[in-house]
Amino acid sequence: MIDADATHLHLTIDGRSVEVEAGTIVAAALVMAGAGGTRTSVSGQPRAALCGMGVCQECRVTIDGRAHMLACQTLCREGQVVCTATLTCTTTDN
Ligand code: FES
Repeated sequence: MIDADATHLHLTIDGRSVEVEAGTIVAAALVMAGAGGTRTSVSGQPRAALCGMGVCQECRVTIDGRAHMLACQTLCREGQVVCTATLTCTTTDN
């Protein structure tokens, strides 16, 4: 159930439940959740948000099953499921 007046939102990042303030972007939620990064390069090097303005593409994650979403350009939503490249995405919702 989505509460439009909620001041806090609950999402899942790499299988862990996280609570953030409304208006938080996914890139910030990843940092607050202690996620180790966003993805890995083709050579296996860890990557993380760099520019914070939609240019570098280093913050790409899978959000609600959609790959290559920019974490720095996406607001957190109630019930959102975010997965970095470090883990296989699973949802707890049925
Ligand atoms: S941090 Fe550069 S595009 Fe998101």
